[in-house]
Amino acid sequence: MEMDSILDVANQYGLYVIEDAAQGSFATYKNKPLGAFGNMSAFSFHATKNIVSGEGGALVINDPKLVERAEIIWEKGTNRSQFFRGEVDKYTWVDVGSSFLPSELMAAFLWSQLELGEQITQQRLKFWSRYHWAFTRLEFEQVARRPLIPDHCQHNAHIYHLLLDSLETRTAILKHLKDNGVQATFHYVPLHSSPAGLKYCRTSGDLSVTEDISDRILRLPMSANMTMAEVDRIIALVLESLGSHYSVEKMFYQPYQKSTNSRKFHSGITTETRASKV
Ligand SMILES: Cc1ncc(COP(=O)(O)O)c(C=O)c1O
Repeated sequence: MEMDSILDVANQYGLYVIEDAAQGSFATYKNKPLGAFGNMSAFSFHATKNIVSGEGGALVINDPKLVERAEIIWEKGTNRSQFFRGEVDKYTWVDVGSSFLPSELMAAFLWSQLELGEQITQQRLKFWSRYHWAFTRLEFEQVARRPLIPDHCQHNAHIYHLLLDSLETRTAILKHLKDNGVQATFHYVPLHSSPAGLKYCRTSGDLSVTEDISDRILRLPMSANMTMAEVDRIIALVLESLGSHYSVEKMFYQPYQKSTNSRKFHSGITTETRASKV
């Protein structure tokens, strides 16, 4: 979904935009940082994100009208910050709020991550690009689809994934990686089909495209602390489990020759499902 389209609809109908930028640190859309578009935006610094503090996050307020109340909610529903600035003569409970603050230690840890944010992102991008380059031929031969990054977006290498032809292929690759000590994952059970989703949510339609894609997505290890040798080993294991036609040597060093490999990628969106979504 294009951010411009979301903002257009919001402007047209006078709606607030709250940006979920949980995984968006150091990424841009049309040269503007993610988190800078919504009236408010939320970042996550959970351990699984690029910039981490174990648990925690940041609320970015881009709309000046919302700053005062956000500060009160953040201060456990009190006007304590106004008191410390000398704006009120005593502080008291004035609104809803809770204890959302990280500890000083956690904030210090996060601060050093933020200072290193560009380096962390560049390091991840190096590994991401290596995966992407190594799997070019899989896409060319329609064995897998690689991530597609629009020209006007600069991503932050949060994840690298391949979209495979079937659940069976993904299961086989995950097993091969696991047998060799590499932990790769699927990328989420769709929430609507999870036990709690079934209990608490409702969907419009059967969401079969979501289910199909979720079965076929393979998420490969990604961290600023990896080495290029580890990335290359993971690439080799993925290729190995796809069959003897694929090897690192062939991917990296030999000119392209069309294979007779019959495993074919499909997008999961047929003319019929497309039509039924319109
Ligand atoms: C898109 C998205 N939104 C929100 C969250 C929640 O982040 P947190 O657990 O730090 O609140 C996540 C975490 O995985 C996420 O990926």
